[in-house]
Amino acid sequence: MSITAYLEQCQQRVDRHLQQVIAQAPVGAERLREAIGYSLFNGGKRVRPMLTYASCEAVGGDPADATEAAAAVELIHAYSLIHDDLPAMDDDDLRRGKPTCHIAFDEATAILAGDAMQTLAFELLCRPTEGRDARIQLQLVQALAAGAGINGMVAGQAIDLNAVGKALSLEQLEQMHSHKTGALICASVEMGARIAGADTLQLQQLHRYARSIGLAFQVQDDILDVEADTQTLGKTQGADIALNKPTYPALLGLEGARCKANELLDEAIQALDSFDERATPLRELARYIVHRSH
Ligand code: IPE
Ligand code: IPE
Ligand code: MG
Ligand code: MG
Ligand code: MG
Repeated sequence: MSITAYLEQCQQRVDRHLQQVIAQAPVGAERLREAIGYSLFNGGKRVRPMLTYASCEAVGGDPADATEAAAAVELIHAYSLIHDDLPAMDDDDLRRGKPTCHIAFDEATAILAGDAMQTLAFELLCRPTEGRDARIQLQLVQALAAGAGINGMVAGQAIDLNAVGKALSLEQLEQMHSHKTGALICASVEMGARIAGADTLQLQQLHRYARSIGLAFQVQDDILDVEADTQTLGKTQGADIALNKPTYPALLGLEGARCKANELLDEAIQALDSFDERATPLRELARYIVHRSH
């Protein structure tokens, strides 16, 4: 199966599930539900769910078992984007080619939509699942919480906001990116691996892969902010420069940032050396993350 077909299949699987879990809301909360649907189904690439499926497959698991975790990580990611775009944060009005949630709805609804998506993610992971050991479920909850919270994405967002207008060293920039983007990508990969029953060595190798590809993801995001156009990106081009954000291109130049992304890609592929052809989707995803155009 081509990587494009593989990605499409993952997208359909996770989207179907997300549609189901947000299908209903109590009377009076219809607008909240609408805002969540608006923010989930608007052309996101679904890279994190794909990583969860592909990691499950790399360890010999059945990707069909990974849908709950794939949906959970996408809910956390989509919530992080809604909050990232708020006026108090990046103050962006375009996301995935459409007005951001707080523009299409209002700020209070955008904050609540994010809050609801975050808790829903953990609710999904806790659902009794036939044939799944409750200890594994707890590990999934822990992996996602660690990737999303004070030691993960939220910490990265705090570091990012603190860094506006400051000159960071390469080490500090890497620390910021590894938290704000890398941590959730590590959680995506870890969850897929745990669902498939990965052993300690496999978890370590996959963690090395995820660390490299997670950082590469944000390096490429920074590059695209400089060199892509708003229409292709679906978000405002040049937003980092306008907000005076420290980025890889700002520190290393565009060419330096591209080299960094390619180095990280090589490291990610190497980390998968001892995996067989079942890790092909993970390898392809790594290439896609570094070579994508939006
Ligand atoms: C954008 O993530 C925000 C970052 C963490 C860099 P994506 O590029 O995965 O955004 P969508 O989900 O495809 O819109
Ligand atoms: C956001 O990074 C990372 C998140 C945790 C949401 P950016 O602020 O660079 O993401 P974009 O460029 O707005 O998508
Ligand atoms: Mg931001
Ligand atoms: Mg932003
Ligand atoms: Mg960005």
